[in-house]
Amino acid sequence: MPVHDGSRVPVSSQTGPHPGLADKVDRHLGRHWRAPVAEHNRAAFECAARWRREAGLERPLILDSGCGTALSSVRLAEAQPGALVIGLDQSRARVSRASHRFRLPGNLLLLRAECADFWRLARACGWSLDQHHLLYPNPWPKPAHLGRRWHGHPVFPDLLALGGWLDVRSNWRLYLEEMALALERAGYRSTEPEPFTPEDPDTDFERKYHQSGHSLYRLSCDLGGRGVEAVSC
Ligand SMILES: C[S@@+](CC[C@H](N)C(=O)[O-])C[C@H]1O[C@@H](n2cnc3c(N)ncnc32)[C@H](O)[C@@H]1O
Repeated sequence: MPVHDGSRVPVSSQTGPHPGLADKVDRHLGRHWRAPVAEHNRAAFECAARWRREAGLERPLILDSGCGTALSSVRLAEAQPGALVIGLDQSRARVSRASHRFRLPGNLLLLRAECADFWRLARACGWSLDQHHLLYPNPWPKPAHLGRRWHGHPVFPDLLALGGWLDVRSNWRLYLEEMALALERAGYRSTEPEPFTPEDPDTDFERKYHQSGHSLYRLSCDLGGRGVEAVSC
């Protein structure tokens, strides 16, 4: 089992993309996912929608989904003061740690919310992203957990519909290979997963993995949709 200074590279019995990936993606693309939305996620979304209306719906919108302790969200907001950045994480502890750790820029909103519910609500309201960052999503390396990886999840069509420039990073290359295949299946062309060395890591996990000697990978994909937003909430 590869271990580097305490932090592990995901270990999986999969030696290549999951054999059931294409079928799963096709199934999800072919039907609308209707699971109920949790009340606390609806409340978080309403808070975000209100914030956007007050800050200016015309401003480019950036989502940092699974932002953890939000270093990346803060950097994105500082680098692009004209944009609105929303950092989402389901962990109350991580979001509140971020709020204490940083002086949050005015164009950044951090929310405790579950991404799948939030994305569905955003799509239903016609939101259109400029950028969407998925930085070191939980890998779910067991083959039986394919459906929990974002590209194997029933919310994948909603993620696509939100549009924008998608940035996905992982220390598990196979996650990105599968993401690229799922994007292709849905009609999008991403970059190949490419190794990179961060000079100044953008996230706490990026720093931890880099310091532990892991190889890091990223891909990007233009999901389109910018500038055609018809927001209804
Ligand atoms: C490996 S950490 C990466 C955090 C951060 N992006 C970084 O690179 O430092 C994965 C994060 O995703 C969050 N997360 C996992 N599943 C989520 C979901 N369904 N909705 C919202 N956040 C989620 C976890 O709470 C955790 O903070």
